[in-house]
Amino acid sequence: MKTFSETPATANDSNLQSFVSETRSLVDAELDRLLPAESVSPAKVHAAIRWSMFAGGKRFRPLLVLAVGKTFGAAQEHLLATACALEMVHTYSLIHDDLPSMDNDELRRGRATCHIRFGEATAILAGDALQTIAFKTLSEDEKLSAVTRVHLIREIARASGTPHGMVAGQAGDLEAESREVGAQELENIHRLKTGALIIAAARCGAIIAGASETELAAVTDYAAQLGLLFQITDDLLDVTATAEAIGKTPGKDQRSKKATYPALYGIEATRQQLPSAHQSACASLDTLPRSTELLRAIADSIVERRA
Ligand code: IPE
Ligand code: IPE
Ligand code: MG
Ligand code: MG
Ligand code: MG
Repeated sequence: MKTFSETPATANDSNLQSFVSETRSLVDAELDRLLPAESVSPAKVHAAIRWSMFAGGKRFRPLLVLAVGKTFGAAQEHLLATACALEMVHTYSLIHDDLPSMDNDELRRGRATCHIRFGEATAILAGDALQTIAFKTLSEDEKLSAVTRVHLIREIARASGTPHGMVAGQAGDLEAESREVGAQELENIHRLKTGALIIAAARCGAIIAGASETELAAVTDYAAQLGLLFQITDDLLDVTATAEAIGKTPGKDQRSKKATYPALYGIEATRQQLPSAHQSACASLDTLPRSTELLRAIADSIVERRA
């Protein structure tokens, strides 16, 4: 198995690129191993899972698990299953997000959405199954102690569901389609629907590494800003990017009357908010007696992302 040994935790941009591509191939190989083969019954559900999973996602949440874990000195083999579990929960959230009763999207990760390709019932089941495979993966990770496994399961369950997780954010997002939303409520929706899983990814990396409570608090603040930045840039890309770049249909947010940063503030004023969110993400790292260049490079890459 490949290791990260060549990539120092002190990273410049080209080191980040190699960390990203190493992470992607490691995670993809492990996901392939963890997910049922298409030949296994129910074959249609497994084909649907694999259709959505192996369609070229950025693997940002696994990247964060591995980067934070590495920063705090965890072995890569201790981080990998948790990184994959988070990608499973994330991919389930995308499959359900695209459903006709939610965002009604036809393009995801550059190909037909799961329900367009396999039908709505199979897409719902694929999402359901991915979510439970994620928690099975966490519970069966024999590289970690039982206590750590329960800790990770709790973190990811809280971040995925209600009242403080992704499902709560998705409910707020859908409800906001039919009315005006103020700045604080919009930020809260973004922090929940996207931020919560990103915070969980960072915290899980730190927990596996045995980080202290103080370190965990700093990582949580860092990831909370990162999660907000991630959804603000997602909103911007919906207005400014091409379908080829993002693998999704642009312009959907406005057509669906979504509560987004560009809708509330305009494109320019939204862009102007990025540096301060980026600065506070990086400031959270200042207290850590660690090499945090890799985490800072990740924050830079979100501000600059084009996909
Ligand atoms: C899209 O997430 C949905 C959000 C939570 C913003 P990503 O931009 O990480 O999508 P993939 O995983 O790369 O497809
Ligand atoms: C999605 O937000 C957040 C999820 C929990 C999936 P969006 O609805 O903006 O994500 P995209 O733009 O469809 O990827
Ligand atoms: Mg949505
Ligand atoms: Mg959507
Ligand atoms: Mg979006």
